[in-house]
Amino acid sequence: MANLEVSIAGVKFRNPLILASATPGWDGERLSQAWKGGAGAVVPKTLGPSATWAKHPRCGRMKLVKNGKKNIGMINIELYTTMGLEEWLERELVLATENDAVVIASIVAQPDPNDTAEVAKKVAATGKVVMFEINVSCPMPFGTDKVGFQMGNDPEMCRRQVEAVKAAVDLPVGIKLTPTSHNMVPMALAAEEAGADTLTIANSVRSFAGVDIKTGLPRLAAYGGYSGPAIRPITMRHVSEVARAVKIPIQAVGGVTSWEDVIEYIMLGASAVQICTSIMWQGYGQFQKILDGLGQYMEDEGLDSLEKIRGKALPHIKTIEALAQNPPLFATLDPESCSNLTKGGCELCGNVCFYGAIKFDPNMSLIRENCDGCGLCIEICPKGALTLTTL
Ligand SMILES: Cc1cc2nc3c(=O)[nH]c(=O)nc-3n(C[C@H](O)[C@H](O)[C@H](O)COP(=O)(O)O)c2cc1C
Repeated sequence: MANLEVSIAGVKFRNPLILASATPGWDGERLSQAWKGGAGAVVPKTLGPSATWAKHPRCGRMKLVKNGKKNIGMINIELYTTMGLEEWLERELVLATENDAVVIASIVAQPDPNDTAEVAKKVAATGKVVMFEINVSCPMPFGTDKVGFQMGNDPEMCRRQVEAVKAAVDLPVGIKLTPTSHNMVPMALAAEEAGADTLTIANSVRSFAGVDIKTGLPRLAAYGGYSGPAIRPITMRHVSEVARAVKIPIQAVGGVTSWEDVIEYIMLGASAVQICTSIMWQGYGQFQKILDGLGQYMEDEGLDSLEKIRGKALPHIKTIEALAQNPPLFATLDPESCSNLTKGGCELCGNVCFYGAIKFDPNMSLIRENCDGCGLCIEICPKGALTLTTL
């Protein structure tokens, strides 16, 4: 059996799949189920303040985003845990760890970092958690003492939160950053300088669920967090930019639904991945499915450790200016694979060419001098009949 073990800040995890802080980690019983389902570690719902604005509106708080009939994402306006800290300390963390689950505690960063540190100290004293994740990235709160993603856009705030929690506990400390930011690197660097042991990248993206066109009312009447497969490219951008700037390990979170997604994140520099929406849609059995795929991939590739492929893609990410120095590319056709030429009819490539480089007269032909080398015809061709070449 493939060895899927990974290590983050000196803590060993039996595999790289971690249940992200969210609804599937609502309480101890559910965390225990995720662990039994195969997760390498579990993160409970964020332990948060009991401020009145943090109480859950019982008004429906999750909406699916669809492309046709396919679910591509989800928007939620769920806040932190609704349970008090005492309940977590006395009951839920005990239940969660009955089967030796490895627990990473998510705690909300409060405006005064000493308050965040106080919570961390109490949680650490239970001896039930192996690591902390400071949440500076909840996308909902706005204008409320800079709690949530606004704090996560301020490097100084990130630094102070990490410093305070590091000084309060003897366990590794991480921080969960926000993708609602044009550049996450300054916050990641500030956290690393303050002594953070790991980074979680990232939370859901601040967004809006849309309008019911029959009533004219918002589908959710507050801004929420966008999660699921649709956000993966956004998170991959942040993970790879930060991975090139820091030395500490990264846990990638955003849109993982398959073992292939996990490998991509590892090749972009992540040491582990966290998963939320896919578990919410498919159940805890998702962990084992993804683990089976990962194990098979490692066997097929002859890999004895995921560490061997970590960051493999990073040296190949270039600036757009550097790419402009490369020789131009043009679409080239393999006539034998083209169904327009062999069977007649298919014009998909022509529909997506806006440069006048594909003509049907009545058969398909390429006009090389018009081709801009964009590559969309290659992406759209169902037969793989087109490639990009330099000649
Ligand atoms: C319903 C819901 C509740 C969430 N609650 C929390 C939370 O309490 N704390 C937190 O750090 N992230 C929370 N998240 C964010 C997830 O942990 C995760 O970062 C995000 O959904 C992206 O991952 P995914 O695409 O796998 O869902 C929540 C996400 C969802 C969908």
